[in-house]
Amino acid sequence: MPEDQPTAHVDDDRPPRPQRGKTVHGEAANAGHRVLAPDDAEVEAYLETALHAPAPERSPEDRPGGGVPRGESSGAHPDTVVVLDFGSQYAQLIARRIRELNVYSELLPFDTPWQEIVRRRPKAIVLSGGPSSVYDDHAPHPDPGLWAGDVPTLGICYGLHLMAEALGGEVVAATKREYGPASIQVVEPDGSADHLRLFAGTPREQPVWMSHGDSIVRVPEGFRPTAQTQSTPVAAMADAHRRFYGIQFHPEVVHTPAGRDLLRNFVLNIAGARPTWTSANFIESTVSEIRSRVDAHARATGSDGRVICALSGGVDSAVAATLVHRAVGDRLTCIYVDHGLMRKKESELLRATFERNLGMRLVMVDARERFLARLAGVDDPEQKRRIIGDEFIRVFEEEAEKLGRIDFLTQGTLYPDVIESTAPETKAAQKIKTHHNVGGLPKDMRFRLIEPLRYLFKDEVRSVGLALGLPEAMVQRQPFPGPGLAIRIIGEVTSERLDTLREADWIVIDEIKAAGLYRAVWQSFAILTPVRSVGVMGDGRTYANVVAIRAVTSDDGMTADWAKLPYDVLAKISSRIVNEVPGVNRVVYDISSKPPATIEWE
Ligand code: XMP
Repeated sequence: MPEDQPTAHVDDDRPPRPQRGKTVHGEAANAGHRVLAPDDAEVEAYLETALHAPAPERSPEDRPGGGVPRGESSGAHPDTVVVLDFGSQYAQLIARRIRELNVYSELLPFDTPWQEIVRRRPKAIVLSGGPSSVYDDHAPHPDPGLWAGDVPTLGICYGLHLMAEALGGEVVAATKREYGPASIQVVEPDGSADHLRLFAGTPREQPVWMSHGDSIVRVPEGFRPTAQTQSTPVAAMADAHRRFYGIQFHPEVVHTPAGRDLLRNFVLNIAGARPTWTSANFIESTVSEIRSRVDAHARATGSDGRVICALSGGVDSAVAATLVHRAVGDRLTCIYVDHGLMRKKESELLRATFERNLGMRLVMVDARERFLARLAGVDDPEQKRRIIGDEFIRVFEEEAEKLGRIDFLTQGTLYPDVIESTAPETKAAQKIKTHHNVGGLPKDMRFRLIEPLRYLFKDEVRSVGLALGLPEAMVQRQPFPGPGLAIRIIGEVTSERLDTLREADWIVIDEIKAAGLYRAVWQSFAILTPVRSVGVMGDGRTYANVVAIRAVTSDDGMTADWAKLPYDVLAKISSRIVNEVPGVNRVVYDISSKPPATIEWE
């Protein structure tokens, strides 16, 4: 995406996202180890750092079913829909919706050369919306090879305007910008009924989500208008012969109720893509791919083909490890560092799942005392993060050294990280490395990375996890920060204070789950404040800790709103904490949004 892209947000209904890797305050997200990406990215980055792992080897050929680094092997690819990203806020959502139809979809930059698109043998192409007007000086345009008509193409919003303009129609700035809910009427085109295939099985009149400032006043040769609104004569157009379709509205958002049907009509019926992108198929092809890759490497180098993985308790590393374990069995060793800053029963769940149920080789390092000792007397949040990161790296280095030769490192990198990362290395790892100056393993150790989740969105990782038989409690969990409860204890971290917070936190989660709200909120947890307040219990006066409750809704953790939890749920949480957790006599609810607050208190 060019830096100088126009910033007008015709296409968006939300404020622009803060740049990835930055906090809303503008500092680097992980200055002093604050890693914005939640879940287990941070812990994986520590292992990567400890091992001096190389940058991932990625190539444009990297695709599922054949997606292995340059020159190692290739196999059959799933039917693919390419989404060209013209800067829409919703571009990823389009790809996710298509994948929900069980068709693999990948997001490419709008200016991807036509040969590269063709090399992927797409069954269809979708042109996303975008903030520009086709007449802007720097309006992004695709490679004109697209317009030869070899591949069925759907233009959405700005994509529709590009199609109209490129093929000889006329687009003008609309006198009235149409934004938000609207109603379209499907119109009977003269000529072939095929022009309406996109709308097959959907109502003649339907609500849609509009967001545009331009309008088509004349459709290109061969096209017919297929829908209109009160203010737009061409809300959709089609050239069934060339299989070019365009719609002015957004089928990918929930505010367009028939949107999924339109996408299904396009992807499955018009383009004829086969719906083979399922968890079961993904697991099968990924497992066999990992196995052949590790075997080939072992044969070529005379090694045992051993693989290492850091488990953090998060869903990504859990699913990645399980896939690799299916592929290579005992050649995989998982390392889990119990830093003592985990939630209640976390380590037990991990051991039960991985060691007992899945029979994995799991090294559980009890490092609770080491971490506590180093955190003694520290109350500055960034110093806590630095100490925890540093200690993690030391522990990993020690453990890796005990294991001897390792050939591969497993990472739970997800698709959004692959498409957004500009740096050759995992961003978190790169930042952490700049701070890290402990000695460690020899620099010439050469690992290769196994990143089995690099094609998947988070929701797909969860489906794969469930299909692999991982417990719901592990797969559906809310994000949890790498430094754990240490950044939810305001002030010094001690063993007693950890116990207090763990009990309070358990009650929060328990009640949120009992109320059926666990998945509706992004994160919900307790914070142990350093404040003590006066209370009465029974006949006596108390002077005890204040616990704060935080629950937020969010799409990605970049911005968040405090959750409007029902009063009765809050009441239950409060009375249980005060009654069941020794040393706490008051509970408060945090009603701050992000920005200006952050999700975590430290
Ligand atoms: P904030 O508090 O910055 O959090 O609004 C945004 C998301 O990031 C998580 N978070 C962290 N994750 N290491 C992590 O691995 C950290 O140091 C860290 N700090 C915050 C937080 O839980 C939320 O999901």
